[in-house]
Amino acid sequence: MDTVLITGTTSGIGKAFVEKFASMGNNIILVSKNRDQLQHQQIDLQTRYQVLVKYISCDLAEANAADTIMEKIRSWGLSVDVLINNAGFNEAGCFTNTNLAKELDMIQIHIRALTALTKLFLPGMIERRHGRILNVGSTGSYMPCPNDAVYAATKAYVLSFSNGLYQELKGTGVTVTCLCPGATQTLFAEKANINNTLLFKLFVMQPEAVAAIGYNNLQKGKRVVTAGLYNKLLVLSAKLLPVSIINPIAQWMVKM
Ligand SMILES: NC(=O)c1ccc[n+]([C@@H]2O[C@H](COP(=O)([O-])OP(=O)(O)OC[C@H]3O[C@@H](n4cnc5c(N)ncnc54)[C@H](OP(=O)(O)O)[C@@H]3O)[C@@H](O)[C@H]2O)c1
Repeated sequence: MDTVLITGTTSGIGKAFVEKFASMGNNIILVSKNRDQLQHQQIDLQTRYQVLVKYISCDLAEANAADTIMEKIRSWGLSVDVLINNAGFNEAGCFTNTNLAKELDMIQIHIRALTALTKLFLPGMIERRHGRILNVGSTGSYMPCPNDAVYAATKAYVLSFSNGLYQELKGTGVTVTCLCPGATQTLFAEKANINNTLLFKLFVMQPEAVAAIGYNNLQKGKRVVTAGLYNKLLVLSAKLLPVSIINPIAQWMVKM
């Protein structure tokens, strides 16, 4: 039985990860912004799965978020065996029209908080020679995306960072996996106002299926996993084709 810290648990892929880990008898630490939802989620999970569930209500866009989370977990006398860096959102649109504050928050959450949480929890895992980290990237990790330029750039960081760390961690008993989902039926597209784009009309996966793929590959200590056959083909084409061809296709798919 592990203690699993998951960010972005109140909906979508993170919520599906919570269900998966709790149903396997693991203790869960939930991290999201919405305290009421977290409280409700805690009671619900404890009732259904009889596992220990703690929650931390926190805005990961704040600079000291990772320290706050670490201190709270220390005060409970718990250590983290599995870290799922999942929280995120999208601010899509032509860069000259998008909201800078939201884009800077996105950089904080996808890059700063993810890096800081990894930095803080990794040493304990290495000391115990037991740990797994999963970072949620995207098919956008593989391709620059017009009309979603900042989002795709943050997810490119997630993939690159995870890949580099994977190699460093060989032989330590700790692994890092980057999960790259494509369009998934969560609140993500609605919040970013991209649910009517071609991307979210074709081959949309369910969050439970994405989390199951992530869970299985995390257990195997896989380096990178793309969720679903269609997304695998998309990633393969991004690897094979020049950016001059991929760019207009990506733009067409997220055209609002
Ligand atoms: N859905 C897709 O098509 C898709 C595709 C590729 C990658 N992804 C990635 O998958 C991950 C999960 O997204 P999702 O699709 O499951 O979206 P979602 O349903 O909108 O869930 C996002 C979760 O992140 C939390 N969150 C957002 N901002 C936060 C903040 N500042 N501080 C703390 N928690 C925050 C939300 O909690 P609150 O409500 O409390 O803010 C929510 O629990 C993201 O990293 C996303 O980039 C999604």
